[in-house]
Amino acid sequence: MTIRPANDAGIAAAANLLRDGGVVAFPTETVYGLGADATQDDAVSKIFTIKGRPTHNPLIVHVERPDWVAGLALPDGRFDALIRAFWPGPLTLILQRRRDSPVSSAVSAGKDTIAVRQPDHDVASALLKQVKRPLAAPSANPSGHVSPTTAAHVHADLGPRLDLILDGGACRTGIESTVLDLTHEIPRILRPGSIDAAAITEIIGPVTTGTGQGTPTSSPGQLDKHYAPSLPVRLNADRPDEGEALIGFGNTPLSTYDLSPSGDLAEAAANLFAALRNLDNSAQYSGIAVAPIPAEGIGRAINDRLSRASNGR
Ligand code: TXA
Ligand code: MG
Repeated sequence: MTIRPANDAGIAAAANLLRDGGVVAFPTETVYGLGADATQDDAVSKIFTIKGRPTHNPLIVHVERPDWVAGLALPDGRFDALIRAFWPGPLTLILQRRRDSPVSSAVSAGKDTIAVRQPDHDVASALLKQVKRPLAAPSANPSGHVSPTTAAHVHADLGPRLDLILDGGACRTGIESTVLDLTHEIPRILRPGSIDAAAITEIIGPVTTGTGQGTPTSSPGQLDKHYAPSLPVRLNADRPDEGEALIGFGNTPLSTYDLSPSGDLAEAAANLFAALRNLDNSAQYSGIAVAPIPAEGIGRAINDRLSRASNGR
């Protein structure tokens, strides 16, 4: 396995590996993805094996351009308006799968739906353009762990198991895409992200939120404990307990690390996963406490990831 800079030669090598059924980690604006040609069953199955991901948890398909979607999914009246507003970008749309979709059924975990997104990242776009195939790509971390926002994170988690890691620097957004299920009359946000309910409502009217547990198109990935470092995580802390590191926000007194001293939620989101990883890897602490983060805009997504990280211990 090698880490290569995401220059022209690196991207060309990655595209060759992907066309040959290999698995390559690449940067997107949200987090690093673990990519494979979505149309090759064997390549897709490697993703599940490498991540230790349950096969009932479907994958997102990445496209270079919106017009790739027509061959994969059935049309939806709200699709055009949403992509005009938000693509390329961190909004994943769940649509009805076409019966003759060339995408491996394992990508949809056997369901009749498919998740699609056009990433807003030069490296991801260049790669898609060269492979000329939709790429299935979950976050490039072992199932249930914190998502990677740098090539070094991917290397630490999965290095020996990958054909190639393309290093395109740190991810701008730092938190995974908003997942919006369009297979209902009232669309549902299955996973909050930087594109929030208010922004979506402005374009297509009211949406509901929640994992959709119990509905036919629930998002299995949202039901499990997730985003978890190995140390226990304690939320809404005003000071660290003995042995704990404190993640602050907006200049929190006594913080070990402040996600955004100026109180900027986008900056905090971009720093969140690296902070969890760094504190987790330092042998000094017995737990991670986190100061309150306002639940507005991308702050909802931050709180969603933190509450998953702190659950089930
Ligand atoms: O920002 C992102 O979305 C990143 C980058 C690499 O694009 N990808 C990512 O993938 O976060 P992953 O696999 O870690 O999370 C995808 C989520 C999971 O919760 C999964 O259950 C849900 O999307 N999902 C995918 N396809 C679905 C479908 N057909 N129906 C319902 N949920 C789906
Ligand atoms: Mg993930």
